[in-house]
Amino acid sequence: MPIIRVDQISQYEGREVTVQGWVYNRTDKGKLVFLLVRDGTGFVQCVAFKGDLDEAVFDQLVRLPQESSVIITGPVRADKRAPGIPGGYEVGVKQIEIVQTADIDYPMSLKDHGVDFALDNRHLWIRMQSQWAILRVRATVMAATREWLDTNGFIEMSTPILTPAAAEGTTTLFETEYFDEGKAYLAQTGQLYSEATIMAFGKVYCFGPTFRAEKSKTRRHLTEFWMLEPEMAFCDLDQMMEIEEQMIQHIAQRVLRDRAAELKFLGRDLSKLENIQTPFPRMSYDDAAKYLIELYEKETNPEKKELLKFEWGMDFGAPHETEITKLYDKPVFVYGYPSAVKAFYMEPWPGRPEVCKSVDLLAPEGYGEICGGSERMSNHDMLLERIHKEGLPESAFKWYLELRKYGSVPHSGFGMGIERVTAWMCGIEHIREAIPFPRTIKRVYP
Ligand code: 4AD
Ligand code: MG
Repeated sequence: MPIIRVDQISQYEGREVTVQGWVYNRTDKGKLVFLLVRDGTGFVQCVAFKGDLDEAVFDQLVRLPQESSVIITGPVRADKRAPGIPGGYEVGVKQIEIVQTADIDYPMSLKDHGVDFALDNRHLWIRMQSQWAILRVRATVMAATREWLDTNGFIEMSTPILTPAAAEGTTTLFETEYFDEGKAYLAQTGQLYSEATIMAFGKVYCFGPTFRAEKSKTRRHLTEFWMLEPEMAFCDLDQMMEIEEQMIQHIAQRVLRDRAAELKFLGRDLSKLENIQTPFPRMSYDDAAKYLIELYEKETNPEKKELLKFEWGMDFGAPHETEITKLYDKPVFVYGYPSAVKAFYMEPWPGRPEVCKSVDLLAPEGYGEICGGSERMSNHDMLLERIHKEGLPESAFKWYLELRKYGSVPHSGFGMGIERVTAWMCGIEHIREAIPFPRTIKRVYP
């Protein structure tokens, strides 16, 4: 009998197959037992009829606890009513091997659990349909991103996790002792190293875990998250935005193609993702600021007014991002932020040194910043001055400065937060569900 995977079941209609998995749910109806079996790729209903099985085996099934592992063999039948993901098919149980009978005290029974309890049981929670669906979408987001970059002239270059200095501000650093070398820090970004690798390889990306000792507790922040960072030599801000929007469009299209069943289960409105078509609107920070100030001045509800408070020079808070993204039904680029609210390495705007060639991509529906990027400062002396001004240790940046001495070129790049994009694709509230084992200010377990 072919051992099949549930996501391929439609190809086996009318044939006998073997499914290996775990019992997710069980319903007994006299002579029938319905098992909802999950195998990692999907959930399928398996129907055991008393007359088809040994009495002893059927008796065991009636009492089989949730999460018991099983190998089931039987015919595949199409039935529109059959529950499951993708659903619409069931397997008749002709043979069943119980690999292990699960203990009956399984903590993640199929009822609602409080979020802290669920997070304490994350190693089991990931088996639940909603979490499984989200993490499948996440895997597709990562695969689609790599696919787009790999077929568009980029090469993957890994960057170190242990680094000698801050790259994205000194307030979110995780610090560790590094033998006799003094302190080392967990990488907040791979970008600075990618600026070195592009001078050897042209267009690169790095992809890995990044660390921020974020003291804020929001639904958009993790202390460990995965960032995909493309970096391009001979590339200015406008050229970069074109790359960025194409990549995001590709991700949305692949998620729609390959994860429609998961999204449907999550109740996602697919039309929102179908809207993610290039070109994305572009708005200057100046225009965004003007709009926000108008909104603030017009607002009459004092509580709302307090949240919308804005003046030129401020970074956007979540309520500001939400107001800007409400103007569009697709992601919007906001470019040209004040240098004071952005990282040290960004190229100044020509003729306006208080503004930098930075761009954030804000997702609709309140998801906010999903990508942050910029053109990088390519002049050696200006960069050195900026490093001094920020109080960064020049010695740790010696190599970085040298990139501006030997064939410096205009170059740009951006970072995309995998969990933020996943949360947006799935339409979920909090990014902690968009990573298998979330790390937040209050959680390093399990
Ligand atoms: O805007 P950020 O801080 O940019 C950088 O780190 C640049 N070095 C990237 C580059 O130009 N190569 O972070 C980039 C993205 C954000 O837009 C967001 O999606 C995500 O990373 N991100 C976080 N995601 C989850 N939790 C956090 N604490 C995050 N901080 C940033
Ligand atoms: Mg940012």
